[in-house]
Amino acid sequence: MIPPVDERAIRAAVDVLECSGLVAMPTETVYGLAGNADDEKAVKKIFEAKKRPTTHPLIVHITGEEALDHWAVNIPQSAYVLARLFWPGPLTMILEKADHVGDWITGGQNTVGLRCPSHPWAKALIKAFAGKHHRGIAAPSANTFGRISPTCAQHVRDDLGEKPKGKVDLILDGGDCDVGVESTIINLTGEHPEILRHGAITRHMLEEALGCPVPDGGKDSPRVSGSLKSHYAPVTKVVLVDDLVGALPQFQDKKLAVMAPAQKLQKTPANVIKWFAAEADPAQYMHALYARLHELDAAKADLIVIERPAQGDRWDAVQDRLTRAAA
Ligand code: TXA
Ligand code: MG
Repeated sequence: MIPPVDERAIRAAVDVLECSGLVAMPTETVYGLAGNADDEKAVKKIFEAKKRPTTHPLIVHITGEEALDHWAVNIPQSAYVLARLFWPGPLTMILEKADHVGDWITGGQNTVGLRCPSHPWAKALIKAFAGKHHRGIAAPSANTFGRISPTCAQHVRDDLGEKPKGKVDLILDGGDCDVGVESTIINLTGEHPEILRHGAITRHMLEEALGCPVPDGGKDSPRVSGSLKSHYAPVTKVVLVDDLVGALPQFQDKKLAVMAPAQKLQKTPANVIKWFAAEADPAQYMHALYARLHELDAAKADLIVIERPAQGDRWDAVQDRLTRAAA
């Protein structure tokens, strides 16, 4: 459930952003750690709070299509097509950056990632902050580098925390994130569009919209920190198996936290100390995935064992995050 937008909290958040502070911003994908994209000092704080290497570029969150040509140049027609179809929503487009976009955002590259989220709190904050000059909000996921992304305010409180004890000036509580995994990233700066990160906007949706193939990006594509092998990992080691029941005997001397289809959980042995029934629908699986990983991790088992879900276009993002969690 998404609580109604608290306009007072939004105004307080704008004040924080004006003073180079950091706000945890709910979006439909995951919570973001927001700072003024034009403010080098604010963006430095984001990197410090996350302990993220500064060469990793950040996404700038904007009000929509009308702000595209403030932030990017040489914008291909495909960007407008995608903005009209999928914004506001879980799609990030990599475009050639405008001159004024700082190195602190782009990690020194000549491209910029732009996204217009659909979560009502994010929309309200971005709109209130943007003003008439199309100002943007830089926001990576609000987690320590390499950890699981937060899909509710409590995840942010538990990881980065709120000041004075924690690192975030203000945590906005906009409820649970609908989508549950980070936005799809499409690179539109090459000869052909390519996917840099899978998300709820699937390859099929992008190909339908653009009328051309949209393959995964190759080695030469721009850097994406989510593409590091070990990203999104719980502290507990994760193993993926094709069949949970068949795999359990080999782990009988270990305490396990488990996620698998309900029918595989009917007779779990005593060494399984925590389990979740996996959703059969990809959107529901995605929605719950990070919260489940957080809880499986919190069980302090020796091992997290997850049965690989189905294959197919709508499962790409889930498969990708599970593979990284297990890397
Ligand atoms: O759903 C999302 O995209 C969330 C919410 C908060 O909007 N944000 C998010 O940010 O996932 P972050 O920083 O955790 O991941 C952004 C990814 C990174 O892997 C980064 O390397 C890539 O986007 N990225 C940003 N700008 C880029 C650019 N100019 N070229 C290539 N990759 C870029
Ligand atoms: Mg992230």
